[in-house]
Amino acid sequence: MSTPAHTAFYDDARAYDVAFSYRDVEAELSFLIDVAGRFGRGSLDSVLELASGPGYHAVAAARRGLSATALDLSAPMIERAKIKAKEARVDVDGVVADMARFTLKEPVDLAFNLLTSISYLLSSDDLHAHFRSVAAAVRPGGVYVVENNHPNDFWTREHFQPSRWTMKQGDVEVFTSWIDEPPVIDIVRQTYSVVARTEVSDGAGKRTLTDQATLRMVWPQELKAYGEAHGFRLAAFYGALDVDVAIDDPKAWRTVAVMVRDG
Ligand SMILES: C[S@@+](CC[C@H](N)C(=O)[O-])C[C@H]1O[C@@H](n2cnc3c(N)ncnc32)[C@H](O)[C@@H]1O
Repeated sequence: MSTPAHTAFYDDARAYDVAFSYRDVEAELSFLIDVAGRFGRGSLDSVLELASGPGYHAVAAARRGLSATALDLSAPMIERAKIKAKEARVDVDGVVADMARFTLKEPVDLAFNLLTSISYLLSSDDLHAHFRSVAAAVRPGGVYVVENNHPNDFWTREHFQPSRWTMKQGDVEVFTSWIDEPPVIDIVRQTYSVVARTEVSDGAGKRTLTDQATLRMVWPQELKAYGEAHGFRLAAFYGALDVDVAIDDPKAWRTVAVMVRDG
C-alpha cells in the first residue's frame, strides 16, 4: 500500500474542508464535464472522484444528477463526503481505499483526480498500479482527468515558497501554512518532503496540527506515458481547469491531463 501522508491534517476532515473551500467547485466541475463531452465517447452518467478528500466535486456532480463515487485513503474524509452529500440531499457512494490499488463494482464514464493528489503516489510501481486500477474503473471511451502541479512550479521552485492563508466557515477558522521549513528534495526519486502546519479554532477550542509528507514531482510526459502503458490516450493538456488556458500559456499554473480510455 502507498504511504499515507499528512495524516493528522487529512484525518481532521472538517478542518480540511474549511481550508480548501476557496475553490470554485461548480466551475471546475463544468470544466470536467465539458472535456468529457469534447474528448470522450458516449453519455456521461457516472463519475469517480479519486483521492476525493471531502468530495467537493463528487457531491456537486451528484447534485447535477450524476451517479457519484468518492474514493479516499482517509476514512474521516469519506465520512465528511457522506455528511456533505446528506446535507445536499444527494447520494454519494464512499469508498475507503488506496488509489494505487482498488476495484469498483461498475466502471464509470468519467474519473478525476484533483488538487495535485496524484503526487502522493511515490513509486513507479504505485503509479503503474494506479493507472491499471483506473483503466479497469473507466469504461472504454470514458475519460480520466488529472490535475497536477505545473512544471514551472518545480523549475522555478515556486512550489517550495511558503504559502499561508486563513478560511472561516461558521464557528470554524483554519489557518494553513504550506511549508514551514525548506523541503528535503531527492532528485533521483523525484520526491520532496515538506512540513505543513494547520491551526484550527472551533467549538472544541484551538489546536495545531503539524505534519510531514513526502510527495513526488510527477511531470506531464510521465502522466502521458503511464496512461498509455495502461490503455489511455492523451487527448489534451491544459494549464488550469479551464479550456481557455493552454499548458504553455503564461497564465498556466497547473498540469491538467485529459486522457481517454481505449476501446
Ligand atoms: C490535497 S488532498 C485533495 C483532496 C481532493 N482531491 C480535493 O480536491 O480537495 C489529497 C487527498 O489525497 C488523499 N490520499 C493520499 N494518498 C492517497 C492514496 N494513496 N489513495 C487514496 N487517497 C489518498 C488524502 O487522504 C487527501 O484526502
